Amino acid sequence: MRGERILKPAHLPGQNPASPDDRLKPMPRGRFITFEGLDGSGKTTQIRRLAAWLERRGHPIVVTRQPGGTATGDRIREILLDARVDSGSAGLAPMAEMALMFADRAQAIAEVIEPALEAGKIVLCDRFTDSSEAYQGGGRGLGSEKILAMHRLICGNLQPDLTLLLLPGFEASLARARRRNRRDEARTGKNESRFEAEEDAFFRRVWEKYREIAAREPERVVRIEGDLTIDEVHEQIVEAVAELLVTAGT
Ligand code: TYD
Repeated sequence: MRGERILKPAHLPGQNPASPDDRLKPMPRGRFITFEGLDGSGKTTQIRRLAAWLERRGHPIVVTRQPGGTATGDRIREILLDARVDSGSAGLAPMAEMALMFADRAQAIAEVIEPALEAGKIVLCDRFTDSSEAYQGGGRGLGSEKILAMHRLICGNLQPDLTLLLLPGFEASLARARRRNRRDEARTGKNESRFEAEEDAFFRRVWEKYREIAAREPERVVRIEGDLTIDEVHEQIVEAVAELLVTAGT
């Protein structure tokens, strides 16, 4: 099984995979791994550690995040985050917020994610459509259907090969998110309010929606729950990724 996927030296991109000459295999597609969780769930640290782990094993990787990750995306991100801190503005309508998240995502797919996957790389993405479903669908109350329909329309229904959902205890995540917010506020002088200013009820809805997504798609979504240490979470992540790479023959 594994041998079939090994790239032979004479491969040419775009070659007909059905070719009787098995030396002429197409470049194997990369793997798309997303990270999800509440603000303060420790994604950033874990992405860094997984990236280092993969690099040590010689895997070509690309690390990106949403919103942001492209020049256009960074500008969209500013609009999104500004709208949350600018108390003078009426705030973004939930549908506008959702549409901006998808505009950012469409750009990231075209500019970063698809080219990297086509080049056989492993893409680590900090948040993807599950965030829209959890935050806009759950938190803002738009519901899952609209998000999933947008995903089909705007993102060609691109699915991650693996999603690592970090769900430390709800109270612990909330406390961590608030601590981080206070630190950032002290440093920058402004509250970057990544939803930390929102009520617990909002986070609770986000949290519930994440759990719903994981229950709906257990093959794709690996839940890493409970108050684990950074090392323990890393170990679980490595286990899931190693399994993905073995089944992918990478
Ligand atoms: P960010 O600073 O990237 O936070 P984190 O480090 O927790 O990922 O801010 C991104 C915020 O945007 C975060 O609160 C989640 C939110 N978000 C959505 O509401 N919908 C989305 O589709 C995405 C990608 C993010």
